[in-house]
Amino acid sequence: ETNEAEKVVFSVPSYACQRRISLDNHNTIFTDALSLLAEKAELSNEDGRGVAFRRAAAVLKSLPRTVTDMEQLKGLPCLGDHSQRVIKDILENGVSSEVKLTTQNERFKALKVLTGIFGVGTKTADRWFREGIRNLTQLRNSAPSLNRAQQAGLEHYDDLNQAVTKDEADAIGEIVEKAVLAVSPRSEVTLTGGFRRGKLTGHDVDFLITHPEEGKEVGLMPKVVSWLESRGYLLYQKTTRNSYLESEDGPGRPSSNMDRFERCFSIFRLEKTERLNAKKPEALAENGAQPQEDVTCSISGHMQLQDKDSQDEQPTGDKLWRAVRVDLVVSPISQFAFALLGWTGSKLFERELRRWAGHEKAMSLSSHALYDNNQNIYLRAASEEEIFAHLGLEYIHPFERNA
Ligand code: CTP
Ligand code: MN
Ligand code: MN
Ligand code: MN
Repeated sequence: ETNEAEKVVFSVPSYACQRRISLDNHNTIFTDALSLLAEKAELSNEDGRGVAFRRAAAVLKSLPRTVTDMEQLKGLPCLGDHSQRVIKDILENGVSSEVKLTTQNERFKALKVLTGIFGVGTKTADRWFREGIRNLTQLRNSAPSLNRAQQAGLEHYDDLNQAVTKDEADAIGEIVEKAVLAVSPRSEVTLTGGFRRGKLTGHDVDFLITHPEEGKEVGLMPKVVSWLESRGYLLYQKTTRNSYLESEDGPGRPSSNMDRFERCFSIFRLEKTERLNAKKPEALAENGAQPQEDVTCSISGHMQLQDKDSQDEQPTGDKLWRAVRVDLVVSPISQFAFALLGWTGSKLFERELRRWAGHEKAMSLSSHALYDNNQNIYLRAASEEEIFAHLGLEYIHPFERNA
């Protein structure tokens, strides 16, 4: 009887954007392996294979319980031979031999370290690897020419590879809001990316900025950036202006997945006192909120995390700040719902939404608009709910977009 329950067969729709995928993953033993193989493929310029592994992982993430038998996978979408082999290996041996070999592979190890530098992509990392560079020490000694982003990335490597906590994201959010309101009082700031999906940590913090009156968002970013810069909040920033209107793309053929909003890729300098102030009981009491019981826990949590992560580094015990990657994007209000949907992720969820739109609905979805290729019209939307409705999809809450 229990055996039959164990072998319950799952049913999963083909597109990740049709599934509710919370952070409660019952199959991490498999999805960690598949994600690592996806990463290996992406570092080898095998993007198709990478997506295949990510789709397979997203199927397992959506299952209500742990897979215990290959039989349970019958009829599930997106599980190719290769992914099934990996799952079978783990079921039989507890680990995947391919994953084990990969984690011992010199090229994989080196490329992971090198692409872990902000501003360094696969191409650059691969060139350095072929020049014999395997780690940061060798990179620093060989002194190749680095652009400004890479210099900042190398300088703040340890900080930027330490997970950003929700408390830190909230502290940054307060600074960004202060900056935005100072230069444009009616503008609005929304947290996007992984933290909007309910994640407790992230590799960066993502914000979307808009103004309730169309057009009033123009020119906002440079003002926000100089406000932040003049107060010493930015260790690095690169602002790209909005290129949507002058783009060559027809409505039905966006040239790439890259959107064209005015944006700022930055590295913030977050004071530790600032981060703690955001959670200080007095500060909360001032706002009429009750002091939270977990304040000391979350603060000591930070300390533990830092001690653990800085074991093999220079002593940083007296450093009073840390570097945090922050992405800022400005959207006109007319495109806000599309921008919000596009910047909430996950990356696979976004990819699957666009694939669904194109293949199932003959529509083109971007972070700017939704175009109906049959009717030859743009479909307007003031909320994410309306976009899902246009696409003929059930609404999926951000917490359930963790494909
Ligand atoms: N994004 C984008 N264009 C970029 C970079 C990111 O449209 N040049 C979108 C991605 O599609 C994703 C969202 O921004 O939907 C957030 O991306 P990112 O910060 O890389 O990932 P997160 O999901 O936030 O995960 P993490 O916690 O690692 O930051
Ligand atoms: Mn569950
Ligand atoms: Mn993010
Ligand atoms: Mn980001």
